[in-house]
Parts: sequence; structure tokens; C-alpha cells
Amino acid sequence: MSIQEKVEVNVGLLIVLTLVVVIWGGLAQIVPLFFQKSTTEPIEGLKPYSALQLAGRDLYIREGCVGCHSQMVRPFRAETERYGHYSVAGEFIYDRPFLWGSKRTGPDLHRVGGRYSDDWHRVHLINPRDVVPESIMPGYPWLQDNALDNSMIQDKMQALNVVSRTPYSEEQIAAAPAELEGKNEMDAMIAYLQSLGTNLKIRR
Ligand code: HEC
Repeated sequence: MSIQEKVEVNVGLLIVLTLVVVIWGGLAQIVPLFFQKSTTEPIEGLKPYSALQLAGRDLYIREGCVGCHSQMVRPFRAETERYGHYSVAGEFIYDRPFLWGSKRTGPDLHRVGGRYSDDWHRVHLINPRDVVPESIMPGYPWLQDNALDNSMIQDKMQALNVVSRTPYSEEQIAAAPAELEGKNEMDAMIAYLQSLGTNLKIRR
């Protein structure tokens, strides 16, 4: 009996050997990523979110924007022509949780920072059809009316210091509530959107 025949007629052996191959293949793909600088180190000049941007990010989560928008430009020509440079791992070091998303009812937003003016975003978020007549995106007019809650911001920054690489100093945390004072939710959302994807120096 040849080795191949022995494996094919012995189901137990076939299962064990299949598992060995699959596990080896998986490890060969995954383990090197733990040791590559490009997947473990922040990109040069990566800035953590400011208190206002961080508050906006939480509103982005609250409003479920991730259900229609991804934040992950893939390395394909069709995407880089449309959105700009593809996303790289080192841009997401301070993103907890990640908002890469998997659904694109609307366009990808990872490189939207700086593409439109703050006023464009304000009008668009209140009623998208005022600037994009055929848009099916819902309006979020309450962002403009709601004052920004600054009571949790220090706890959030402290929590981020525990889970990601201690981006905030004591002084930044102390100054955070004042930075949010007098702002509305729209200000925070726009500050967040305008920061997206802007840390990477080569954007095209
Ligand atoms: C039901 C799906 C849906 C939801 C939910 C949604 N959007 Fe959109 N969004 C769209 C569509 C479709 C477009 C493209 C048309 C337009 O520009 O309005 C769009 C466009 C955008 C754009 C312009 C992007 C570009 O490159 O032109 C921004 C910015 C944006 N959305 C932000 C948000 C934010 C912030 C939220 C959450 C508050 C959100 N969207 C929620 C569907 C959605």
C-alpha cells in the first residue's frame, strides 16, 4: 500500500494530517504579522484623537454610522483612485474598538478628513439631500441641538491609556472637560470626521 492510499483509507489519520496542514498554514500566515514593524508600530507622526475628536468618535458609534460606512481603504486600484492611499495597520493603533466596518451603503470614510469643509459636513449631517440631492443617507439634525456631554471624557481617556499605548498625559486629561465645554454634538462629530485618515503623510 502506498503512503497516499494508507492516508486515504484511514479516516482518523486523514483528519489528523488535515488538521496539521491547516494549522501550519494558519500559523505561517498569522505569526509573522506579530513581528513585522508595519503591522505593530504606529505610523510616523500618528496623533491620538483629541478630546473633542474622541467624543465625536463615540457619537459615530452611538449613531450607528458604521452600519453604512467602512473605514478601510483596500489596496486596489479602484479604491485608491477613489478614496486615496489604502489604509495601513499603523494608523489604527489608538482605535479602540476598530471601526473598519464591513458594509458600504455609503462610501468609505477612512480618507474623508479634509475633503470637505466643516460647513459642508454640518449641512450634510442635518439633511444630506441639501448637498447631495440623490442621497439616501438619513439626517442627524439632533447633533446640532444636543449639547456635548463632557462628564465621561476623562474616564474614556484614562481607559484608552490602559488599552492602547498610553496616548494621553495627565495634563491632557485634566484639560479635556474644558475643551468640550460649550460645544454641541455636531462640533464633535465634524472634528472626528475631519481627523479621519489624515495622519498618513502620503495620501495619494
Ligand atoms: C443608511 C445608510 C447610511 C447611514 C446610517 C449613514 N450614512 Fe453617511 N452616507 C450614506 C450614503 C448613501 C452616502 C453617499 C451620499 C451622500 O453623500 O449623502 C453617504 C455619505 C456620507 C459622507 C460623505 C462621504 C464622501 O466621501 O462624499 C459622510 C461624511 C457621511 N456619509 C457621514 C456619515 C455619518 C457621520 C453617519 C452617522 C451619523 C452616517 N454617514 C450614516 C449612507 C449612510
